[in-house]
Amino acid sequence: MDLKAKYEHLEALNAQAELGGGLERIEKQHASGKKTARERILALLDPGTFTEIDKLMTHRNYEFGMETNKVLGDGLISGYGKVNGRLVYVFAQDFTVFGGSLSRANADKIVKIQQLALKMGAPVVGLNDSGGARIQEGVESLAGYADIFYNNVMSSGVIPQISAILGPCAGGAVYSPALTDFIFMVNERSHMFVTGPEVIKTVTHEDVTKEELGGAHTHSSKSGVAHFTGNDEDQTLMMVRELLSFLPSNNLEDAPIKPTIDPSDRVDEKLQNVVPADPNRPYDMHEIIQTVIDNQHFLEVQPHYAQNIIVGFARFAGKPVGIVANQPSHLAGVLDINSSVKAARFVRFCDAFNLPLVTFVDVPGFLPGTNQEFGGIIKHGAKLLYAFSEATVPKITIITRKAYGGAYDVMSSKHIGADVNLAYPTAEIAVMGPEGAINIIHRNKLNDTERVQAVQDYREKFANPYKAASLGYIDEIIQPKYTRMRIIGALDMTQNKRKSNLPRKHGNIPL
Ligand code: HXC
Repeated sequence: MDLKAKYEHLEALNAQAELGGGLERIEKQHASGKKTARERILALLDPGTFTEIDKLMTHRNYEFGMETNKVLGDGLISGYGKVNGRLVYVFAQDFTVFGGSLSRANADKIVKIQQLALKMGAPVVGLNDSGGARIQEGVESLAGYADIFYNNVMSSGVIPQISAILGPCAGGAVYSPALTDFIFMVNERSHMFVTGPEVIKTVTHEDVTKEELGGAHTHSSKSGVAHFTGNDEDQTLMMVRELLSFLPSNNLEDAPIKPTIDPSDRVDEKLQNVVPADPNRPYDMHEIIQTVIDNQHFLEVQPHYAQNIIVGFARFAGKPVGIVANQPSHLAGVLDINSSVKAARFVRFCDAFNLPLVTFVDVPGFLPGTNQEFGGIIKHGAKLLYAFSEATVPKITIITRKAYGGAYDVMSSKHIGADVNLAYPTAEIAVMGPEGAINIIHRNKLNDTERVQAVQDYREKFANPYKAASLGYIDEIIQPKYTRMRIIGALDMTQNKRKSNLPRKHGNIPL
């Protein structure tokens, strides 16, 4: 072969690899409203930044006539590129090749990406669209999955790991995304389940469609498996880019600052009237969050799941933070099993990746009931307590209204290591609400008029922030309109915080 022919041979191989499972299957993929793996990677990364690795890898299977059925790349596109100018590793399962199923070779490519990302300290984004284990390969495929799971775990807390589910993701295959930090799904296009509708029908006789069982709506509102949902693939991939803009590349870096023209000393008069005078009237905590952050730009995580707690990313004076907030307009902002677990996982993510925690508190307590007790609210509530306590990032807490009972302690109180604790004059910090307290103190000894008076007296005496402030549990009582500047001041004061917990193999969070 002369030189020219050699170069042409390479180009031909590259072109062949780029065609994946062939034009017909590509058209089928498009017809079903999906992009190809390669198109997805190009949509995710900054233009012209993708470098592919292992483009010519093939499977090594000799069963079922597979030795004559090889596709260059073997159904997985992998490599690296940039998102907003920063290095990111990426892999995308190519459904046009054996349904994106996972072969041994295919797993080796993913593991290579994972190990490179870990070594270079950059995030991994996985774009999932697969029929699961490559059936022709049997246990070799299972071994490949296990290698990926192992690397997911070793990367956890070191580099951000993000999964976008853009097609089927079933069986044990769901566990790699589940081990990553965030799962994105696409409405009506992506499905996740451990066992599908047919198996469920056989085993439990339940009738369920795959959309009901494992669609984006289910996982973003019922199971809490998914963190973000896009209307289509393009929007979903843009959301992945947005999430990355809030995150450091690894656990040794700080998150990137995004300069803003939103003034740090902005005073917001409208905040004076957000918390209602009547302590039993709900209000939307989003209003406070949106008002105080930079440019009203809030990336909410799991917005449709356990809505009694709000978690998400925002910036103050350009610096990314994690926000945790009770939501009084949903179940009065009570802490229950799902909201505790949702917030605990978020707090641990922020702590692992050096994102300060800003916590807004309006919580009447833990949700009473047999459902909650039988479901283990004790151990699940403890997760949030554990997460806030072990977090060593700067912790700023603002009590807007209620902070009652154990929930006061849990919600990033001074006692579990918050650095700056602020309260509005409307704050009520006490062991329990006035009605409950009077019922217990006076049992049935009061008539109706006396009871109303006793509740009123209790409210005036205890349902305020002044007792806590007199004890130093609250550093300052502030007018709501100054919230933004106080938070920015607190973040500035804590920016060089040095705190580490005692060395240990690992703690024993109540899982
Ligand atoms: C090999 C597969 C495959 C697989 C699909 N294909 N899944 N090849 N191994 N797991 C191939 C098909 O043969 C077909 O090839 C092409 O991909 C497209 O598949 P279709 O069935 O035509 O597509 P569609 O109708 O869209 O259905 C998609 C699907 C279905 C729902 C994913 O293909 C399916 O049910 N596949 C099997 C899923 C499964 O049981 N996987 C194993 C689960 S066990 P041609 O040549 O016709 O285009 C598992 C364990 C993991 O995953 C454990 C990890 C610990």
